[in-house]
Amino acid sequence: MANKPNPKVVEICKQFILSDEDLKKISNNFLADIKKGLAKETHPEAVVKCFITYVTDLPDGKETGDFLALDLGGTNFRILSIHLENRKSEMINEVYELPKDKIVKTSVVLFDHIAECLHNFIVKHHLQDKLLPLGFTFSFPLVQVALDAGLILKWTKGFDAKDAIGQDPVTLLREAIKRKGGMNVDVRAIVNDTTGTLIACAWKDPNCRLGLIVGTGTNMCYVEKVENAEMYQGDRTKEYVVINTESGNFGSDGSLDFIRTEFDREIDSKSINPGHQLHEKMISGMYLGELVRLVIVKLVEKNVLFGGKSSDKLKTAHSFQCKYVTEILTDTQNTFVHVKKVLEEMEVKHAKKQDWQDLYYICDIVNRRGASLAAIGVATLINKMGFSPVTAGIDGTLYRLIPGFHDQMMEVMKRFVDKNIEFKLMLSEDGSGRGAALAAASGLRVRLSGLLGRFSVEALEKLKLSQLEQCELCWTSGLLVIGLELSRSQTRIYTRPAASRLKWLHSLEELESSYTGWLRAFPSDNVGDRYYVHSQVTTSGIATTRIPK
Ligand code: GLC
Repeated sequence: MANKPNPKVVEICKQFILSDEDLKKISNNFLADIKKGLAKETHPEAVVKCFITYVTDLPDGKETGDFLALDLGGTNFRILSIHLENRKSEMINEVYELPKDKIVKTSVVLFDHIAECLHNFIVKHHLQDKLLPLGFTFSFPLVQVALDAGLILKWTKGFDAKDAIGQDPVTLLREAIKRKGGMNVDVRAIVNDTTGTLIACAWKDPNCRLGLIVGTGTNMCYVEKVENAEMYQGDRTKEYVVINTESGNFGSDGSLDFIRTEFDREIDSKSINPGHQLHEKMISGMYLGELVRLVIVKLVEKNVLFGGKSSDKLKTAHSFQCKYVTEILTDTQNTFVHVKKVLEEMEVKHAKKQDWQDLYYICDIVNRRGASLAAIGVATLINKMGFSPVTAGIDGTLYRLIPGFHDQMMEVMKRFVDKNIEFKLMLSEDGSGRGAALAAASGLRVRLSGLLGRFSVEALEKLKLSQLEQCELCWTSGLLVIGLELSRSQTRIYTRPAASRLKWLHSLEELESSYTGWLRAFPSDNVGDRYYVHSQVTTSGIATTRIPK
């Protein structure tokens, strides 16, 4: 039996091998980009956005109660019901399909589908009578402004409900839940899957300071000093805040061009978001199968594989699924059971033993590059944080299912993590779902506060925003919408339960010509179903108001 890959295959695949010099350069570029994302001056053009999550406390194990969690952002959509007690959790988990026609149309189509699934879940598990706090794992770039509010910056991973850009997914979810009716849920927190993973792992291991996803997409979050997080507008007495780096977009300014191959360029140019998420496109499950397919197709064309004969399926873009790569990599090199099965599914009937070996080799080399890229990112952040001992919580199908992924990451990390730092990689057991529930747990919530907006009185006056009813200057916080009425002599704060518009944030950002005031709204005290907002306004001095609903 052949046990070595064909030298011609090795030659083409060389492009995927990263030297230590490459890795060092990647690490330097990544660190520079992280710093750009954190700094106010460079944040607007930074490709690695480093979004503030408003998670300033990690769980302490005292979180108790029943919660719901939604997990949107992978191949499937999941709903979980979670009971937390004494650092233990019991979960019921249902997976729902996300057909393409639900994710690329409008926000209403997408969120109505989510509400429909949630309703089915609640009915199926007899949860109608309970008021359930809900944590929402929303794994897309989000400009977060409070634990339960944010603005969708862009879609990734094939989602494309265009009208949702600039809107608040929590509001969209609450509105869809209301439209569907018959549910008693309180959406309390929105977290990225990386943050969910970090929170869930920190619940088990207090040294956990970083969350990594290597699944359909890839991304990292980590714990940063508030003093370095210049975009942070929350409670300044906190020492740390979790940063959602959105590292999947690393390289989108060309900083990874020195390692990108012809195959990476082709994947990107044919994707729905060319020029974006270039790091993610070199690593994650959404693109891995297609990368492998493109290499195969090239080698068939060169008459190196399958005797130069392709199949219609092999010629079809995205026909080589990620799961084929994970299956092939679970093969023992002696039998190639999975390689043969995958080739059958790809309708390639004429493969020989050498082809089996070569296919295994291609999958391994392409995936190994992804593991190295993920590892160097984690190593860079571990060195930046400087905690020791430190744990990175990891979730995602590639890390979970590919034998060797963990070891390959460790190999790279051992070479690049500072020698005085003791580190560990920890697989998260259903991280992001449980993490979202933990974030929703009131224990975390009361400790979190969000600074909701920075405004300029002059600019607001110019826009004749003196009448709240006319100006729709609103913000959601919990179940409240906060409106402002401003004049030079007076600042008043209104609250009303209503559908909110978050779009005004854009104009507020534009309007930051002269800073005159801060509006700080803290998560409302939740007494039965009556809500209060604590507001603190500093235009000339500090006023604190407490307004019943
Ligand atoms: C994409 C999303 C990011 C998410 C990652 C992993 O990169 O933009 O928010 O964390 O996928 O799911």
